[in-house]
Amino acid sequence: MIIDNQECQELKPLMERKAIYPGSFDPITNGHVDIIQRGKKIFDKIIVGVLDNPKKTPLFSTQERVELIRKTFEGDPSVDVMSFDGLLVDFARRNKVNVVIRGLRAISDFEYEFQMALMNRKLASDIETLFMMPSLKYSFLSSNLVKEVFQLGGCIKDLVPPLVEEALKKKFMNSKK
Ligand code: PNS
Repeated sequence: MIIDNQECQELKPLMERKAIYPGSFDPITNGHVDIIQRGKKIFDKIIVGVLDNPKKTPLFSTQERVELIRKTFEGDPSVDVMSFDGLLVDFARRNKVNVVIRGLRAISDFEYEFQMALMNRKLASDIETLFMMPSLKYSFLSSNLVKEVFQLGGCIKDLVPPLVEEALKKKFMNSKK
């Protein structure tokens, strides 16, 4: 079968390779950004899924976390950002995605990630978890550490996008009032 150029363009949206990158993102760090950039080399679309967990009290609200990621990737059509609650596999199914990306920084991440990946496989055997390693320079980085260092007056430049640093400044300024 010969497919001409026009037909090929028409088929393209049907073949879009999508992956979900889920997390708490409280807030997004350069380590997360690095994983999304790497994911974009493999997938046409990365759907960043921000967990809306009523049991947790994050520093940034779900909407704030979504907005920080949206602004970080403003103008990039290959990154969509949305929040989700409930099971990750249900979120993946609703979006017709069967690949979940998770970043692996160190061996210490492995046990939790292994459990989660196998539980998700038990719940939905058609959904695969793909582990990606961030750049070595971000392998020590976590949202929790960023918040702690910032709160104690340490420098977080190079660890988070500039707009996240600004948001942290505002957040902690408001909390001191
Ligand atoms: O950034 P995090 O906090 O490590 O992300 C964890 C996340 C959001 C991927 C995970 O908690 C999750 O998928 N939660 C949704 C609920 C769910 O599906 N639980 C069963 C998976 S084992």
